[in-house]
Amino acid sequence: MPDTQVERTNFDLTAALEDAEARFAEANPTSAGLYEQACRAMPGGNTRTVLYYPPFPVSLARGDGCYVEDADGHRYADFVVEQTAGIYGHSEPAIQRAISSALAQGITLGGPTPREGRLAEIMCERFPSLDMVRFTNSGTEANLMALSAARAFTGRTGILAFEGSYHGSVLSFGAYGNRMNVPFEWVMGRYNDMEGTRELIEEHRDSLAAIIIEPMTGSGGCIPAEREFLQMLRDAADEHGILLQFDEVMTSRLGPGGLQKEHGITPDMTSFGKYIGGGLTFGAFGGKAEVMSRFDPREAGHFGHAGTFNNNVLTMQAAIAGMSEVFTEQAAVEINAEGDLLRQRLNGAIEARNLPVQVTGCGSMMMFHPTADELTGPADTDAAPKEARALFHLEMMARAHYVSRRGMMVLSLPMGPDEFDGLTAAFEDILDTYGALF
Ligand SMILES: Cc1ncc(COP(=O)(O)O)c(C=O)c1O
Repeated sequence: MPDTQVERTNFDLTAALEDAEARFAEANPTSAGLYEQACRAMPGGNTRTVLYYPPFPVSLARGDGCYVEDADGHRYADFVVEQTAGIYGHSEPAIQRAISSALAQGITLGGPTPREGRLAEIMCERFPSLDMVRFTNSGTEANLMALSAARAFTGRTGILAFEGSYHGSVLSFGAYGNRMNVPFEWVMGRYNDMEGTRELIEEHRDSLAAIIIEPMTGSGGCIPAEREFLQMLRDAADEHGILLQFDEVMTSRLGPGGLQKEHGITPDMTSFGKYIGGGLTFGAFGGKAEVMSRFDPREAGHFGHAGTFNNNVLTMQAAIAGMSEVFTEQAAVEINAEGDLLRQRLNGAIEARNLPVQVTGCGSMMMFHPTADELTGPADTDAAPKEARALFHLEMMARAHYVSRRGMMVLSLPMGPDEFDGLTAAFEDILDTYGALF
């Protein structure tokens, strides 16, 4: 065991976190002031719960490539990657060109343009479940639309979701609690629990309209679903006329055709969001023609779907450029292979030190967990001490690596060996300094 400060007998997790917070506050006076100012007009100075952490979040001033800089002038390698949405980094020329060219042709045109049809084609070619697709402004909205479509299509009201999962601001079954959720008739299963979930589906087979699942939980711990589990859901849904919906808002970046293509399991409906908009606000839902054609406004009794900015030209143009010129199928393969190698390196560093922590994930998305317990679903991740997660987060930032509070680390396309070596070195230094506290 290396000679580290954690061998001091009076140095426990709480003291280490207090010390990290004090150093953080001292290093970020401008962010502290901006936070105080924001608190005057926004509850907790915040308009996105996930971005708050004590004592206050750093205020970001700018970004370039895969780096961000905060208001106090610290430069970080950006592994937050806007919770997976920032796959192109902050200054991808093809995206910048696309936005500039759309900007030059008028931005709120109030009618269809050729762009949405082109983007729809690109997505339908890429993702196996998509016969047809529609656009929204966020992943939350995409899930709400897809689940509402399932309810209208089947004439049933129930939705099976999984404990600890996150599908959007009002579709949340994890850390934020469920008081704000839409009042659908929720049936809650346990992620990766074959027997329990099969029984639950059997019990509710006449009332379930849809099953919604992330094929790997994103914010819920980067825990992959077992292929057999997804196959069981596919079979049970077929047997009982339930629509299987994959939430691929995050995971669609984990392969050229999302995790659905990696697994060879085709859901009835899929929701998207995040990176596909090229870094601009985006959401989409789509699937089987049988369901999606019900939105055809030429048909009597069609389903309604509105949204002033669904086809906003900046997003559409950026998304076309991103998906066709930058995040190609080849690029998807490469970034996820790099992510697998990085995760192996981090877990190798943990094993070499024999510490009770782990990094879970798949491809270009991963998460640090300060526990050695087996994690089979998002509900398991709550058991890991929150203070240890907080300490990891602040100490990664102190080492110039911007990672999310919950310990999620995500790759972006501009990253290369320097950033992967840098992250590994910072990670190893934290293990050596604080390992005994985890
Ligand atoms: C799996 C998943 N679904 C849906 C959403 C909601 O997307 P948005 O934040 O665009 O509403 C998120 C956001 O983090 C997500 O991770």
